[in-house]
Amino acid sequence: MTNPEVGTVAQCSRLADGLYQLVIHAPEIASRAKCGQFVHILCGEGNFLRRPISICDVDAPRLRIVFQVKGEGTKWLSERKAEDKLDLLGPRGRGFDLAKLGAKPVFIGGGIGVPPMLYATKCAQNAGAKPSAILGFRSQSAVILEEDFACPATVCTDDGSYGVHGFVSDVLKQQAAGFTGIAACGPKPMLKAIAAIAQQAGLPCQVSMEERMGCGIGACLVCACALNAENGETRYGHVCKDGPVFDAEEVQW
Ligand code: FES
Repeated sequence: MTNPEVGTVAQCSRLADGLYQLVIHAPEIASRAKCGQFVHILCGEGNFLRRPISICDVDAPRLRIVFQVKGEGTKWLSERKAEDKLDLLGPRGRGFDLAKLGAKPVFIGGGIGVPPMLYATKCAQNAGAKPSAILGFRSQSAVILEEDFACPATVCTDDGSYGVHGFVSDVLKQQAAGFTGIAACGPKPMLKAIAAIAQQAGLPCQVSMEERMGCGIGACLVCACALNAENGETRYGHVCKDGPVFDAEEVQW
């Protein structure tokens, strides 16, 4: 269990429709955060709801999060101003195991699954790898963070209004031979398609299932995830505690 840290908001800005970015001064969490982990943020004064939000980037002593407004809690979060205090728990969860992804990993994000890939590509670069990114969005108006990626990044949109017309899995299919491993975060159908391509190509693949999280503390069971047990049977894991990152082969699709 991690201790709470009181973070101070340095900046809050809107990135796209319903998508916000917070830069938070939080030295303890920033010093320990690994890519793929999340912070659990108390949202609102009256209600005691924490929201799990993935870490988008770390520039110690600051960390950056990007989130979608989905309800009361995230709306409250989007209204924070510089100098406001935030009650944070973290870093939490199991992040990406970069050592297993080889020298030329590709990081694939879909929609709100794009933000955690930013820090993951940075960490891979710091570890001496040559990462690439494939970033998928609904349409041009939903494109975020493109300029923040310091590695080769292919942007695609479902409707073709920007970048490559198509899904991240279409781009991956064409480029898979050039990579040594795959890390992905996004909606489950996207992850399933990527896991299948990885299997065909014989590439190690890790998926972050965080879109399935609710409470983030093992209490709501929203995040129960069917996994393959070693004896060939099904076992259930909690995305918030056992993940959010799993080996794609572990997940029952
Ligand atoms: Fe509620 Fe995991 S998110 S139990």
